[in-house]
Amino acid sequence: MDEHTPSQGAPILWAGRLEEKPGAGAFAFQSSIMADKRLALEDIQGSRAHVLMLGKEGIISREHTTALDTELARIAEELEAGTLKVDLGAEDIHSFIEGVLTQRLGDTGRMVHAGRSRNDQVATDLRLYLKHEVPRLCGELKETILTLLDRAETYTEALMPGYTHLQRAQPVTLGYHLVAWCTGLARDLGRFTDALARLDECPLGAGALAGSGLPLNREATARSLGFSAPTLNAMDSVADRDFVLELAGAAAITMTHLSRFCEDLVLWASEEFKFIDLAESWSTGSSIMPQKKNPDFAELIRGKAGRTTGNLVCLLTMMKGIPYAYNKDLQEDKEALFDSLDTVRSCLSIFQGMMRTAVFNQDYMERALIGGFLEATDAAEYLVRKGLPFRIAHETVALVVRDCITHGQRSITERPLEELKTRSLLFEADIFQTLKPGSCVAARNGPGGPAPEEVRRQIGILRVKISR
Ligand code: ARG
Repeated sequence: MDEHTPSQGAPILWAGRLEEKPGAGAFAFQSSIMADKRLALEDIQGSRAHVLMLGKEGIISREHTTALDTELARIAEELEAGTLKVDLGAEDIHSFIEGVLTQRLGDTGRMVHAGRSRNDQVATDLRLYLKHEVPRLCGELKETILTLLDRAETYTEALMPGYTHLQRAQPVTLGYHLVAWCTGLARDLGRFTDALARLDECPLGAGALAGSGLPLNREATARSLGFSAPTLNAMDSVADRDFVLELAGAAAITMTHLSRFCEDLVLWASEEFKFIDLAESWSTGSSIMPQKKNPDFAELIRGKAGRTTGNLVCLLTMMKGIPYAYNKDLQEDKEALFDSLDTVRSCLSIFQGMMRTAVFNQDYMERALIGGFLEATDAAEYLVRKGLPFRIAHETVALVVRDCITHGQRSITERPLEELKTRSLLFEADIFQTLKPGSCVAARNGPGGPAPEEVRRQIGILRVKISR
């Protein structure tokens, strides 16, 4: 049997108006239970706050208030214990909970919806859910940053090539490269935190779009649900889901970061680079090629970034044409947002495992420092320090590099001083020490640079930032 078949138990909340009801297939098509069943506990939490407020304001009697509140608490317990299952034939989680309440309490159950609509209800449920789910995701993000910072700390002196255009560019360190990743992730953390602060207003009491004529106390429900305030405008509260867009955006950006880090890992794990050995437990084999050890986990994270970009585009497109206020299109938001948040969380945890256990091959990284003339910029700066205008220094060193290539020399330091002097008399014997990869890195000790003590400073700043 189709799991969406309209159930006998859960009522259709709008049954009074329509003599003919949608058939089973059509009903299932417009049902949102598969997505919003995860909001069950938040829905109950919201209903309990609403009921207590209705009681306090004298809109329902004290006995009805107690009966409703007690039963709602019981329903939550039963759902958590698994003794009550969400009826997947219900239209949505709101109908399901109200249905159970009504089955058990009769007319008292029918009082719960006074002064509210599913429109403000779902907006409240979703914000409540995000208020505890997003901090969990942030925790995973922090954990990932800490994992990377720990590794970076170990490798502040480990020389490796830095790349632009995937061509060897200048010497850096592995620690520096890992801190570059962390800096992006720390901004992701900020994006999630900012979005959380903005969604911290309670839509309950906004009703369908125009509030309620009943004397609701929106301040009270907002406070009891842990929101900082009720939303300002009822129409905005039910019409806009910009907080969903923001979070889907933050998720897509985080996944774009992870995807790029994974692209680095895939390259580094190749025979061509050999910078990294991913642990066997974080690799997979091939069904036909016996020798293979593939970086599938990194590839999958890179691939899943497509889903989160897709979800963001899906949400923006879904929302762009909706006239104010609520329209059912908005129901499409949850599936996409939940998928994005779930994806980020699982990818962060997989990425952590991979990074914790990866072995870096420092000898291969160091070997890659020879042959690409990564010291050329430092040679130019050497001449600048001796008074040569930078553009002339750049040209001079370019000629030196060409000389080296002509003579089969793989580094400027392989060129004798007399030969260097044919290009500029400013070259002295100290050039050879200056151009060692370690010296190139150590010289870049200004703010933001790769020098070991500067990278240790950056690590310290990030540690403080994420501990807040
Ligand atoms: N499932 C709906 C949603 O997520 C709940 C609100 C339904 N409101 C309505 N007027 N049909 O948006």
